[in-house]
Amino acid sequence: MLKKAYPYYLASKPVYANEDLEVTDKFTGEVATRVALADAKAIDQAIAAADKAKHAMAALPAWKRQEVLDHCVKRFRERQDELAQSLTIENGKPINDARGEVTRLIDTFRIAAEESVRIYGEVMPLDISPRAQAYSGMWKRVPIGPCSFISPFNFPLNLAAHKVAPAIAAGCPFVLKPASMTPIGALIIGEVLAETDLPEGAFSILPCSRDGADLFTTDERLKLLSFTGSPQVGWELKAKAGKKKVVLELGGNAACIVDEDADIEDAVKRVIIGAFYQSGQSCISVQRLLIHEKIYDHFKEKFISATKNLKAGDPKKDDTFIGPMISEKEAKRVEDWINKAVQAGAKLLCGGKRDGTMLQATLLEDVPHNQPISCDEAFGPVAILSKFKDFDAALKEVNDSEFGLQAGVFTRDIYKVQKAWNTLEVGGVVIGDIPSWRVDHMPYGGVKDSGLGREGIRFAIEDMTEIRLLVIRTP
Ligand code: SIN
Repeated sequence: MLKKAYPYYLASKPVYANEDLEVTDKFTGEVATRVALADAKAIDQAIAAADKAKHAMAALPAWKRQEVLDHCVKRFRERQDELAQSLTIENGKPINDARGEVTRLIDTFRIAAEESVRIYGEVMPLDISPRAQAYSGMWKRVPIGPCSFISPFNFPLNLAAHKVAPAIAAGCPFVLKPASMTPIGALIIGEVLAETDLPEGAFSILPCSRDGADLFTTDERLKLLSFTGSPQVGWELKAKAGKKKVVLELGGNAACIVDEDADIEDAVKRVIIGAFYQSGQSCISVQRLLIHEKIYDHFKEKFISATKNLKAGDPKKDDTFIGPMISEKEAKRVEDWINKAVQAGAKLLCGGKRDGTMLQATLLEDVPHNQPISCDEAFGPVAILSKFKDFDAALKEVNDSEFGLQAGVFTRDIYKVQKAWNTLEVGGVVIGDIPSWRVDHMPYGGVKDSGLGREGIRFAIEDMTEIRLLVIRTP
């Protein structure tokens, strides 16, 4: 399904410079394909080309930007199977999750195509005092200029799309560095963009090693950096980003409250997905589960049994739910955190064993709060259960975290809904479902260490544009 080799894209054109980057099949560990690796010189050329293309991109009429995005939607629909299968190979994501990500990729470009023709401004009376009597104003949005994007391994297509599609909608050229372990999704997006007549230099997609990678953050010709990845790296990049605007979509240790009035069957079904889809390698995967004491034992029994029933194995098979983690190093890290928690007094309810990159779906309870598996981002197939008596105390416990991306609350009580929405320090509160729920036009992003700014096309377009005011004096 994968080609033997992939080029990188420099100034809107494929470059078959070398094939230095090996991309492995994350389940078999075998080399699946090879990818051209950009060096510092190529990255510098790409940034220069983006800088040169900024006027041509800004001058593209809305219908043209929409036409480009519509073309992408059409081509992704035609290549849906190929995209899903390559995602499963390069990432290890079970094929059903991969298919889901491809439909989201299509949604993301579809939404961007719609938004590209409604980037509005406002007419604004300015005559608020006698000195301003003769003045009126209006403002519009103009593209911010060349953007720098760094996308992660866990959604190689859709999290690249969340940067690329709004940039095209807004009229910004960009340089994109996809994760080295999973560059193929972004390169297929590049292949499709190269079929359009976007101006030369409008986009560059450059898998790279350390050589030159800093330029994505430090180069002053780039006016915005949008990074998705780990909190540690994200905040380090922000410190080096100079004058550019920075958007950070980082991780978290998402919590989910299951209150006493929840439908237990339904909550278990949803939490199983939230905790274990793509082996927990999502920033909004359910990590901390707070369950009301009245339903704790019932919920726990059903949850353990459903967890043990999850089918693990080859992600290419239709009935596989748990595939490999992205690397053995990551699987070992999570295994180590589980063992540490158990040594510190936590109880292992199920799972905990690892074979290479395959880590079992794992449940723990009585985990001390200072354990990394509780207070850091696990990014693996692990959930920890705890009991609460009082809803307010549960909200407080959710907030007792350095992170704040999304939280889920299973309750049918409208007053508790309001309280959760008012109190939880997160970017989004999901009622009647898991924190892992996302649809691609909603504002998505975190507070505290989880990030800065929001994605979700309309919101990303706001970041990728600046307000330019016109003042008119009529003597
Ligand atoms: C993430 O892991 O940050 C993204 C989650 C999603 O898009 O569903």
